[in-house]
Amino acid sequence: GKKGILEGVKMIVTAGATKEKMDPIRYFTNRSSGKMGFAVAEQAAKEGADVLLVTNSQLEVPKGVRTIHAESAEDMYQAVMANANEADVIIKSAAVADYRPKKIYDQKMKKQEGDLIVEFERTKDILMELGRTKEHQFLVGFAAETENIDHYAQKKLQNKNADMIVANDVSHEGAGFQGDTNIVTIYKKDGSKTELPLMSKQDVAHHLIKEIAEAMKEVR
Ligand code: PMT
Repeated sequence: GKKGILEGVKMIVTAGATKEKMDPIRYFTNRSSGKMGFAVAEQAAKEGADVLLVTNSQLEVPKGVRTIHAESAEDMYQAVMANANEADVIIKSAAVADYRPKKIYDQKMKKQEGDLIVEFERTKDILMELGRTKEHQFLVGFAAETENIDHYAQKKLQNKNADMIVANDVSHEGAGFQGDTNIVTIYKKDGSKTELPLMSKQDVAHHLIKEIAEAMKEVR
């Protein structure tokens, strides 16, 4: 059939929330469903990319996409870093926990008198590490913000050494977590930005894939 615009491109996509355990039955997580990242994986595979999806989400895996199951931020870090060298493009649409409980209890924590104080420690920043160690990879981060979107997106581009940042205003109706639609702005290294109107996550993914294919032509 018709040749896709990402034919022969090796891609890693991360999607959905991570889960950070506190004991065998309790964990901390966030509202990410994985829909945005799964849409990216699906559209990329349709365009001929060889896609590895790293996720904890139970959504149906798109046709032709390989997956690695990763529950925690640490699991995701390990899975992504182990495969990063071979990848041409890495898209970090997962909502990775920034903190995890400092201690994981082997047994169910029992109720005690009074308040419970849980200590958290920072997880590894996967995007930051990818940016620090990157050689040839085209690196795409997402940004979920509720204010100062332009500012934070530009900062993420620089601080994390990413080639592209996809920012969604998660305070907007129809954008961000869980729904089937999103409103995003795509920021590129050259300072340009593309604001997309409200559309399905599949359409957002399609636009994003086109932008990536274009941008990769320019750097190569
Ligand atoms: O899954 P859905 O329900 O469809 O929702 C989609 C989404 C809103 C989750 C998605 O569009 C999105 O914005 N994903 C990124 C959410 C996020 O965690 O943003 P952040 O601003 O906290 O992180 C910025 C970037 O750093 C992200 O690319 C994130 O994957 C990455 N990161 C963050 C923390 C960490 N420890 N490691 C990382 O790699």
